[in-house]
Amino acid sequence: MSKTEVKQKIETLRKEIEEHNFQYYVLAQPTISDFEYDQLLKQLISLETENPEFFNENSPSQRVGNDHNQEFSQVEHQYPMLSLSNTYLEDELIEFDSRIKKSAGDDFQYVCELKYDGLSISLTYENGKLLRAVTRGDGTRGDDVTANVKTIKSIPLILRGNDFPQEFEIRGEIYISHSVFEKLNQERRENNEPELANPRNAAAGALKLLNSAETAKRSLDAYFYYLVGGNLPTNSHFENLQKAKNWGFKVSEHSKRLNNLSEVLDFIKFWDIERKNLPFDIDGIVVKVDSLSQQEELGFTSKSPRWATAFKFKAERVATTLNSVVFQVGRTGAITPVAELTPVLLAGTMVKRASLHNADQIALLDIRIGDTVFVEKGGEIIPKVVGVDLSKRNIDSIPFQYIDVCPECGTILKRLEGEAKHFCPNEAFCPPQIKAKIEHFISRKAMNIAGGEATVELLFQKNLIKNIADLYELKVEELENLERFGRKSAENLVKSIEESKKVPFERVLFALGIRHIGETVAKKLVNYFKNIDNLMSADFEKLSEVGDIGETIAKSLIDFFKDEKNVEIVNRLKNKGLQFSISQINENEKKNTLSGKSVVVSGNFGTPQRRKEIEQIIELNGGKVSSSVTSKTAFIVAGENMGASKLEKATQLDISVISETEFLKIIE
Ligand code: IVH
Repeated sequence: MSKTEVKQKIETLRKEIEEHNFQYYVLAQPTISDFEYDQLLKQLISLETENPEFFNENSPSQRVGNDHNQEFSQVEHQYPMLSLSNTYLEDELIEFDSRIKKSAGDDFQYVCELKYDGLSISLTYENGKLLRAVTRGDGTRGDDVTANVKTIKSIPLILRGNDFPQEFEIRGEIYISHSVFEKLNQERRENNEPELANPRNAAAGALKLLNSAETAKRSLDAYFYYLVGGNLPTNSHFENLQKAKNWGFKVSEHSKRLNNLSEVLDFIKFWDIERKNLPFDIDGIVVKVDSLSQQEELGFTSKSPRWATAFKFKAERVATTLNSVVFQVGRTGAITPVAELTPVLLAGTMVKRASLHNADQIALLDIRIGDTVFVEKGGEIIPKVVGVDLSKRNIDSIPFQYIDVCPECGTILKRLEGEAKHFCPNEAFCPPQIKAKIEHFISRKAMNIAGGEATVELLFQKNLIKNIADLYELKVEELENLERFGRKSAENLVKSIEESKKVPFERVLFALGIRHIGETVAKKLVNYFKNIDNLMSADFEKLSEVGDIGETIAKSLIDFFKDEKNVEIVNRLKNKGLQFSISQINENEKKNTLSGKSVVVSGNFGTPQRRKEIEQIIELNGGKVSSSVTSKTAFIVAGENMGASKLEKATQLDISVISETEFLKIIE
């Protein structure tokens, strides 16, 4: 094939594949088999790889994402992303209707839409091409998530037809369907990973993944419900959305243009029942005035449009039998009673367990084994028991007896004044509490040791670790024969543990998992006390001298170091060579070269650690590390693959971009 023919072929394939994407993901009417589709995509990818000069960022081949670690730069919304006023009450809808009538008279129509329970997104198109996708953020500025959004196959990268405005924004909701959610959690259970709480959280997590190839695997989807721009095709919101459908967007089939409040109320009633049959979550109905000129007259309050409101559905509730109660011991020792139920379908998922909160709640509702209980779904992973159907109670049922010892270690439970939950005080030996402590210790922001919940569980089960100090005794030989381990992963784990000995004192202090000592407090303590001995010997007064250290934190530190078991662990860690004093480099570098300056760090510097170090040096020199480039940015320290939008912004604002070496020179 000649180059011209190749180019032709690539373009035809791109068009053809996007047409199939539209048929499959937007219309749900595929016209070819998955196999045929895969063949077309393979052919395109191979032609593009062989002919890189024809690369195009809007090619369907780009929808698989890539595994470069991206940064989300912040983007200001051209039109702020407001929220909607909302209500659960019919009376308030009647009031809404009267307010509309006051402004618009009787001559207006409503559009009723499903209120998708996902994350809002704003897409900007220029000349029919997707330019940018930005999250809501704080309504004024959001994160640029274009790379991740491109992996959503129902979102057009290039628009169909030719009657779209040259530039416009379209807003909608990104969501995950029930079936995808179930599949993702199934995988998580198999990998021993914590489950995602609900489809909304799952979608939020997927959209913010640093690696777009990972986002692509989460099968996100999106519905669009709002066009923004000064040049929309018609004066009707509803008709504009129908146009948007022709341009390739997924627009709900269920939206309806209605003539009056009574029709609106019927629509709501219908969907309050029918929503149970939808393959995704909705949490209400949005009622909008259809005419754009009437919308404009009604205008906005500071938070939301006056021409729209949301009617929210009450959480779904079902009845089922309470078969037994089990008690879970959390990371901090808090006890949660969990109801084991006869499985029942609730909001699209099968529910077998539900939270019972605490002893008081059980007593208050007089919940008993064998009762028919009402279960509701909130935002959490497990739904909650909200009441008992007393009319169905067995005559021989007996009041529930709460436990008084820890189900994991047998220690007598305690309950602090003012706290609702009982807790197990056996912090150092109660298995779930130890495991949680170790998981925190190895986490990325703490010691950054390779491994997660499953590794900790395994090592704990095999009696290889009983506390954080035991990690530093692990040997490749004892790890390599464990299930899921091999020589290589055993070596990697030991190496990563060894590496962690270089982690600076402030992160080690944070890693110890002392109550109330987060990253910021740890930093302050380290700057003030310089080493662990000073910190350990500080009394209440001395601790209170440190800025922002209040009574709770001071008490927590004193309690922690009063416990000999903790002191012994700190000593063992010290002997193993972990950093327990502020490093000399940090001390020497403490100057005010960057006083009051805001500096942005962007790109890769070999290791994530190095990047953290650069940020530390900035702070130690009196500067402030900022994540976004603004006119106030003093300069940008750039590593490899610096964020493209940051670079663009820097050029626009004429801000200097310097290398790590140049930066170190400035500091010197
Ligand atoms: S219209 C200026 N329509 O609900 C009004 N929002 O509580 C723009 N949402 O931030 C929003 N479905 O994330 C609109 N059919 C729908 C919606 C919808 C879900 C979300 C959206 C918004 C939030 C407000």
